[in-house]
Amino acid sequence: MKVLLASSEVHPFSKTGGLADMVGALGKALAAAGHEVAIITPLYRGIRGRFSDLRPTDWTINVPLGETWVRAQVVALSLGERLTVYFVDHPGYFDRLALYGENNTDYPDNPQRFIFFSKAVVQFAHLQPDGPFDIVHVHDWQAGLVPALLQWEGHRTGWRPPRSVLTIHNLAYQGRFAKSAFGLTNLPPDYFTPAGVEFYGDVNCLKAAIIFADFLTTVSPRYAREICTEAYGCALDPVLRARQAKLVGILNGVDYDEWNTHRNLHLRHEYSFRKMAGKAENKRDLQRELGLPMRADVPLFATITRLADQKGVDILLAALEEMLATDMQFVLLGSGDPAIQRGYQTLARRYPTKAIARIGYDHALSHRIEAGCDFFLMPSRFEPCGLNQMYSLRYGAIPIVRRTGGLDDSVVDLTEDEKHADGIKFTEFTSRALATAIRKALVLYATKPLLDQMRHNAMTADFSWSRTTEDYTRVYQRALA
Ligand code: ADP
Ligand code: GLC
Repeated sequence: MKVLLASSEVHPFSKTGGLADMVGALGKALAAAGHEVAIITPLYRGIRGRFSDLRPTDWTINVPLGETWVRAQVVALSLGERLTVYFVDHPGYFDRLALYGENNTDYPDNPQRFIFFSKAVVQFAHLQPDGPFDIVHVHDWQAGLVPALLQWEGHRTGWRPPRSVLTIHNLAYQGRFAKSAFGLTNLPPDYFTPAGVEFYGDVNCLKAAIIFADFLTTVSPRYAREICTEAYGCALDPVLRARQAKLVGILNGVDYDEWNTHRNLHLRHEYSFRKMAGKAENKRDLQRELGLPMRADVPLFATITRLADQKGVDILLAALEEMLATDMQFVLLGSGDPAIQRGYQTLARRYPTKAIARIGYDHALSHRIEAGCDFFLMPSRFEPCGLNQMYSLRYGAIPIVRRTGGLDDSVVDLTEDEKHADGIKFTEFTSRALATAIRKALVLYATKPLLDQMRHNAMTADFSWSRTTEDYTRVYQRALA
């Protein structure tokens, strides 16, 4: 099949979270499975400098955006025989310090930027000289208007557009804008109704995709069920329930070329389950780097996260207040909400030999933390898939997760399956339940045979993309049927 993936972030070009990892890895995996894959994404600042093989193309995007016309060039980078990334080069919109906003504030012209991006995707799909795409697979709200725009473009020009698939990575971000943004879409007024793009008087890009895409997926089976309920539906649950027959949950895979404990350029010491000495050395290095006492016998807990409400960083802070009295170490790597940042910095000042708060975004350090820590904390309020718990498993760091979304689907607790257990789960979203889970981890750390067995299970758990690719191929076939 010929597939176009449209996403506002793609690893290794741009990233604020797991979306980038997922789209980058999905593209690779689909191409490896024999599909012909193109990925389209904005050309953000810095990409040109880091990837000198970028080449210009003959494509020029020229689309109306409300009253004006907007032009952009398309540049390309081939990543393999069947995989090419196309970048939409509009410096005014994308040559900026950040992807979506600065100082925790969204760019005010995000409607223009991403409605334009969605239109560029549609025009790019329409202009294909060497055969049409079978599927346009859009990700999250930033490409959310694509399915509606494809339909309208077909209507307007007599073109038979490709089928569209939406993957929801996070229902909490919907791309909801004031009604005036609807003018930017140049769609006819009958698209602006409760059965279309409108949501309580506003434009809602994700809702538009849920309604107009031929098929819907989200990134874990449990989250697929959760988002159809009021508790997790972010007010879109009625719309999702109406389309539930076309919605499946597919757990993300892990790119083990990138996330592994062998020949990893970010790690000084290789290791495997049979040769765990390297993990102990990585732990020692990490303690040295962070300025923590270099002790092998103390359990090191870690988290790497966006500091956002979703991630349960509030209950974690409260649980740590209680638990840091015990013999343990903790490191946080994260950025986001300034108040939460301060909370962790204050905690770190209070326990200088036990807790470290690294505020910022640091890809290499994230590998070193996964490799050096014993336990990885993900107490999320909700979690569509979550990637770090799967990275942790491979790195032999036991994940401590809340029973929600993809966390529940990817980690096995002792109470569920003693033989295959590889993590610790808790259910209630409270600091007390989390503290209890941390206490269990302390006991586990002191129970060597059980710890070894769980580490073994963790490091051999397999979330490679091959199975997932088959699931997406089936989704594409269903969208085409
Ligand atoms: P989400 O996409 O909701 O943020 P995921 O667990 O799916 O959650 O993915 C998060 C990704 O972003 C992981 O690859 C993680 O390592 C990375 N990440 C998050 N915060 C940081 C940070 N401060 N520094 C480096 N990597 C980070
Ligand atoms: C989103 C979700 C996260 C998921 C990622 C990749 O950012 O919050 O749970 O792993 O997308 O699908």
